Amino acid sequence: MTITADGSPALPRQAASADPDYPSFHLAPPQGRLNDPNGLVVRDGVYHAFFQYGPSFPRERLVYWGHASSADLINWRQHAPAIAPDSWYDRSGAYSGGAVVHDGEVWLYYTGNVKTEAGVRESYQCLVSTADLETFSKDPDNPLIAGPPPGYTAHFRDPQVVAEADGWRMCIGAQRDDLSGCVLVYRSDDLRTWTLDGELGLPDSGGRFERFGYMWECPNLLRIPDEVTGEYWDVLIFCPQGVGPIGDQFQNIFPCGYLIGRWDGHALRQTGEFIELDRGFEFYAPQAFASEDGQAKEPVLLGWLGNASEDDQPSLTDHGWVHLLSVPRRLSVRNGRLIQRIAPAGLDPRGARSAQKLAIEGAVVCDESVGLAELRDQRSFVLDAEIDQAAASSWELRLQSGASKVVFSFERGRLTVDRRATRYPHGQLRTIDLPDDEVLRVQLVHDRSATELFIGDGHTVFSLRSYLEPGEFTVALAARGSIAVHRAEAVVVNEAIATTDGPRAAR
Ligand code: FRU
Repeated sequence: MTITADGSPALPRQAASADPDYPSFHLAPPQGRLNDPNGLVVRDGVYHAFFQYGPSFPRERLVYWGHASSADLINWRQHAPAIAPDSWYDRSGAYSGGAVVHDGEVWLYYTGNVKTEAGVRESYQCLVSTADLETFSKDPDNPLIAGPPPGYTAHFRDPQVVAEADGWRMCIGAQRDDLSGCVLVYRSDDLRTWTLDGELGLPDSGGRFERFGYMWECPNLLRIPDEVTGEYWDVLIFCPQGVGPIGDQFQNIFPCGYLIGRWDGHALRQTGEFIELDRGFEFYAPQAFASEDGQAKEPVLLGWLGNASEDDQPSLTDHGWVHLLSVPRRLSVRNGRLIQRIAPAGLDPRGARSAQKLAIEGAVVCDESVGLAELRDQRSFVLDAEIDQAAASSWELRLQSGASKVVFSFERGRLTVDRRATRYPHGQLRTIDLPDDEVLRVQLVHDRSATELFIGDGHTVFSLRSYLEPGEFTVALAARGSIAVHRAEAVVVNEAIATTDGPRAAR
């Protein structure tokens, strides 16, 4: 890493992107480590994504807010970090948070993390503002909230600000003194002076979330339209640390899920089950883009395709970078569930100019394996298919390269994902429940070393890192019994990730 005269990290040359595992259309760090998406905001039609960024990882763990922008959510331009952890209140890291657009400016809220010499944690909620998304200023009144209220520990972080009819609310992930997790809500009329409103209530949940993990990270309160009725739901996404596996759920180190209900400014009412957002091996800490008018009609979400403490991946050892963000996902609600659709128009084979119909379309695959010839040696693509599985006892979708492979095995109502034969077999194989549709829509997003499978028209998503070996790359379908491929199309993405030397971080 190069250090500029004032000590902030300059953008590196594209060492990481020379790595065959480096994604073509997913947002990944220029070097070092990326974790949570932060401060997602749309401004003048351009998407700005900030992210937890450790440019010197693993030598140093200090986190900045990295910054990238994109007009199409496919080609990302890297800018210099927006927030540097160089103030007394954030000197151990500029932790996660969200954005609002206010009076023509973008205001970024984040948590200043401090570990004192005695090893004691302190957490401060802070503000950075920018008029042009090029220069960023830390607020002179920082920290705006100088620590947790009585009754709560210093695990007090990840502010998200939302607009209400009577002012603003800030949701903050928190831990009670009894070491259980919750969300604290603050209110403000001017976005600067914040007073505690209390815990975010879940009064209709029968006490199920009173002791649900030891700390809730990255809360996100979103309004999301129901695609059947057109009405809006309020959805609380959060990541409760310390909730262990239940059946085939919550298999990752920390889960990430949501509750759907009705938000009244204090409490989320009429909530149902806590449902995992993504059933894959890697997914955490998602958030949605804010825009000029608060929140878009159908919010677009980015998640971190990584997990805490799982940095030991081939890309880090060999090329000095680790983790990436998910493909952007457009959210809606259907039958009480969050539905996720691939957001970028350029990745939709039905609309994209570069779409290809695959030879397999219309074919019946019987007791044999059929390669999707058009995708041979394409390492960044989206495949969209409708599979009639009525006459199959099971069928497979296989990504293969050399001796390595990722296998998705479908039985009616079940999916098993096997990545044992990859360069990153972490987690080995996993089985989940699926909707039992006779005709199943399957969208496979594959980008070098990241794979996201959208199943049942956005009903279930399974994301994973898929480090294959070099060699001839093939995608194949195989069936026991027979499947009919009603439709199969693909968009192949030719990479273009621009990097620019941008302005310096807020100081
Ligand atoms: C979630 C998280 C956040 C925190 C950030 C630190 O992955 O632990 O709670 O703000 O990462 O990088």
